[in-house]
Amino acid sequence: MNILVSGSTGLIGSDLVAFLTNKGHSIKRLVRSKAAESKDEIYWDIDSETIEAQKLEGLDAVVHLAGENIAGRWTSAKKARIRDSRIKGTRLLRNSLSELERRPKVLVSASAIGYYGDRGDEVLKETSEPGSGFLADVCREWEATTAAATQKGIRVVNLRFGIVLSPKGGALNKMLLPFKIGAGGIVGSGDQYWSWVALDDVIGAIEHAITTESLKGPMNVVAPNPVTNREFTRVIGKVLSRPTILPMPKFAARVALGEMADALLLASARVDSSKLRSSGYEFQFSDLEEALRHLLD
Ligand SMILES: NC(=O)c1ccc[n+]([C@@H]2O[C@H](COP(=O)([O-])OP(=O)(O)OC[C@H]3O[C@@H](n4cnc5c(N)ncnc54)[C@H](OP(=O)(O)O)[C@@H]3O)[C@@H](O)[C@H]2O)c1
Repeated sequence: MNILVSGSTGLIGSDLVAFLTNKGHSIKRLVRSKAAESKDEIYWDIDSETIEAQKLEGLDAVVHLAGENIAGRWTSAKKARIRDSRIKGTRLLRNSLSELERRPKVLVSASAIGYYGDRGDEVLKETSEPGSGFLADVCREWEATTAAATQKGIRVVNLRFGIVLSPKGGALNKMLLPFKIGAGGIVGSGDQYWSWVALDDVIGAIEHAITTESLKGPMNVVAPNPVTNREFTRVIGKVLSRPTILPMPKFAARVALGEMADALLLASARVDSSKLRSSGYEFQFSDLEEALRHLLD
């Protein structure tokens, strides 16, 4: 298949490109710099609404992952970049794909379980109401921006990724150092649910979404067994053979990370992935300890 990937240099995108290339697909990458132009690259600039649209003809599938990384202090400028890179970027891509003569069959677009906000121990399905807060608002708008593509006959799947676990980057990578030096512990009450997913399953779910024609709309991509932060802490301590007795109180998390602490570390989202599983996807990692042993080997 001819597959276009945006955000291809990121945590998910770089593994995805390698995986799909190994499977024999022909990959094009949407890039933000013209410096090293090659035939496999398609240039876009979200701010000036520029994209090399003629190069988009003849694609079979598009995987849209691009967006400003959400890590870091959420100043108003950072929040604007998080939002605009996703909403304006998705709009530019959607419009360009919709205007093609030969449109791709499917647009697989990233979203996040941040859609649900902070929800205690409620089991969250794709049909659950969206939550409140900055991330929930961004996710809702991000998903809504893809909708117009369906009117042009493009199948759209919005993948609501959970906390993606990889030693190469993302949340796990940031947590490792304190845990390795024995300074890890629960965050806040520890009762909040963390719906995690191993990077291998994120890649598997993206491939599954591309090839499973019956799939459309939002789909949660989280391992079948979400755990509380307390359980996550216990397991990571066990896998690393380190004590986990230094809790991070809520206020300390807020001082260290600002608003992001509430949205990412302290928020509780117990997300259900039965839509993905009942569509035929078999998780490689359902058990956190097994996943961490594989990832941290
Ligand atoms: N990792 C997670 O735990 C997680 C969880 C839920 C949802 N997600 C979502 O899944 C998507 C991919 O995640 P990821 O972890 O691979 O993200 P990532 O490592 O931050 O990579 C995102 C990629 O987007 C592009 N990008 C960065 N800043 C941008 C900007 N201001 N405007 C346009 N493009 C920009 C970059 O690729 P280029 O330089 O190639 O353009 C970057 O490598 C993201 O949208 C993320 O929000 C991730």
